[in-house]
Amino acid sequence: MTDQKPVVRLDGVRKEYGETVALDGVSLEIRSGEAVAVMGPSGCGKSTLLNMIAGLDRPTGGTIEVHGERVDAMNETKLALFRRHHLGMIFQFFNLLDDLPALDNVALAAQLTGSKAGPARKRALELLDELGIADRRNIYPAALSGGERQRVAVARALMNRPALLLADEPTGALDSKAGEQVMDLLLDLNQIGQTLLIVTHDERLAHRCASRLVEMGDGRIARESALERS
Ligand SMILES: Nc1ncnc2c1ncn2[C@@H]1O[C@H](COP(=O)(O)OP(=O)(O)OP(=O)(O)O)[C@@H](O)[C@H]1O
Ligand SMILES: [Mg+2]
Repeated sequence: MTDQKPVVRLDGVRKEYGETVALDGVSLEIRSGEAVAVMGPSGCGKSTLLNMIAGLDRPTGGTIEVHGERVDAMNETKLALFRRHHLGMIFQFFNLLDDLPALDNVALAAQLTGSKAGPARKRALELLDELGIADRRNIYPAALSGGERQRVAVARALMNRPALLLADEPTGALDSKAGEQVMDLLLDLNQIGQTLLIVTHDERLAHRCASRLVEMGDGRIARESALERS
């Protein structure tokens, strides 16, 4: 059965930081199974847009629905739970916990939603295995390569089977080989149905992984186009 409701719906979203207008009336829908790339010059509001959708920050105007719920109107407690259950996020600099080995970084995501340690660790290991880094499970982030760290971060983001995976410059800190691996991974995930929203400066990442391109400028959507994946 196809889900008719969009996974994400933004309507007239505005965000001001003092005098700065970071988002100036953004309306956007993302349907289940889509892979959307957001591009545009530095400072045009890409990360702000992602952070609004993730409920990490609140808009000053407009509405944001994710997975059928108004994240802009949720209280902090509900938002934290909602984020853990329905969203996965990956970042340029991985945001792993330095004092936990790879497996525990991943398993923690499920434990925070109430899973017991045993099943959480089992699923974490399965994911690390699928991402080709099961042998690195006991290694701390500092001793992992950038590509390995990002794969651990992807595994963590997938732990709770999120309706939406959000990525902010996921290849931005990786060399080209590790970047390629992460691109392949994102493409594979989308091809098995994972809905993706990727913010990137990397044309190749957008064209490789995304089915739709959203170009931003000055806090607005300047252009939207369908992509033929290369
Ligand atoms: N927490 C904040 N406080 C004040 N201003 C902010 C904050 N976050 C973003 N801004 C401002 O909002 C605008 C949009 O920033 P944003 O980080 O969304 O841009 P971006 O498109 O992600 O840029 P980049 O490509 O460099 O990552 C910028 O002018 C930025 O300085
Ligand atoms: Mg940014």
